[in-house]
Amino acid sequence: MKNFEFHVPTDVLFGRNQESNLPDKLKGLGKKILMTYGGGSIKRSGLYDKLKELLKDFEIFELGGIEPNPRVSTVNRGVEICKKEGIDLILAVGGGSTIDCSKAMAAGAYYDGDAWDLVTGKASIESALPLAVVLTIAATGSEMDCAAVISNEETKEKLLMGHPLLLPRVSVLNPENTFSVPAYQTAAGAVDMMSHILESYFDQEEAFVPDAISEGLLRTVIKYAPIALKKPDNYEARAQLMWTSSLALNGLVTTGKNFMWSCHYIEHELSAHYDITHGAGLAMLTPKWMRYVLSDKTVDKFYTYAVNVWGVTPSDDKFAVANAGINATEEFFRSIGMPMTLDEFGIDDSKFEEMAEKAVVVGHLDGAYVPLSEKDVVEILRMCR
Ligand code: NZQ
Ligand code: ZN
Repeated sequence: MKNFEFHVPTDVLFGRNQESNLPDKLKGLGKKILMTYGGGSIKRSGLYDKLKELLKDFEIFELGGIEPNPRVSTVNRGVEICKKEGIDLILAVGGGSTIDCSKAMAAGAYYDGDAWDLVTGKASIESALPLAVVLTIAATGSEMDCAAVISNEETKEKLLMGHPLLLPRVSVLNPENTFSVPAYQTAAGAVDMMSHILESYFDQEEAFVPDAISEGLLRTVIKYAPIALKKPDNYEARAQLMWTSSLALNGLVTTGKNFMWSCHYIEHELSAHYDITHGAGLAMLTPKWMRYVLSDKTVDKFYTYAVNVWGVTPSDDKFAVANAGINATEEFFRSIGMPMTLDEFGIDDSKFEEMAEKAVVVGHLDGAYVPLSEKDVVEILRMCR
């Protein structure tokens, strides 16, 4: 287990009607709020009206229409509003896309130039507006982490930026706000949080405590995602998923690990080029990646995964047990409605090499759990056909 620092000061307000505590939490952060949101789900659910009423003593500016896989052009539009209106804080109401876009705006507000420079690292983040969140979909963990993933529609890049200043100050996690999430997005969110856990579970560094927590979190998603899909307004299921999404990526399960991921970097290439849903891309890739990296070296870990997470019966045939765990993973993703082939996304092989090259460089995949070259990534993509 490696040395680590674990410091996550986000004030999490979890449960029914926790929005009502927002005015109190926000009043110390300023008067002028930029409220950001996506394509309209918060208006249809009534959350928009509820927040406007609760925050009536603040001066509210708005930026709606933030797209899934948020674009840097939208970030720049938000930055413009922040600068022009002298915004004190940003309130992101939505999922990972709205939150990430808002994080980038928060940093961009203190930068003179294209916010893309902050994403690529050409310019460093020196300061950021405070950010508060009302989460509406359990998926990315952006509500309790300091990362943002931003797409550049011109260069077809999707890159991750991270800085402690981007960590939300306050996050309202009311599971009722996720009752209206459509089945496809509920399932994709479940896969995304599972993937965040798996990316760190399969790590060159062994660490028993985070792995034991990881196994419990994975079993939680496996138990509750199907319940939420069957009954979208089941509070308990939505609550378990919501808290798991935060715990999956707030640093807890990566403590003592190398934090070198694989599937995410391949998926980011797919969503950069084809604008697909992040979690759905991960559902397709993850079991293929598992099969590709299963070997004499990794079989023990896959064996433990199969037994502890999927309840596969232990046996002397380690590979049979390990494969049963991988099959169970794939079957689960399929059972919750995720596409499992590139064909289902309408993606052909014309960009395999280009995407593989970028994924290896951006993700430092040569240092991953099982090091991957461009050739390996192309092979994994071929397995998805
Ligand atoms: O835009 P609206 O109308 O709100 O609709 C959204 C969107 O169409 C809908 N939705 C969200 N909450 C809803 C709802 N519909 C009905 N009722 C609700 N309560 O769901 C759709 C997807 O929303 P989005 O915010 O895109 O989903 P998600 O939270 O999965 O975020 C995905 C983005 O986050 C990035 C992904 O790459 C992707 O760009 N990630 C961010 C990470 C981070 N910051 O740490 C890590 C992740 O690995 C990931 O890369
Ligand atoms: Zn993810």
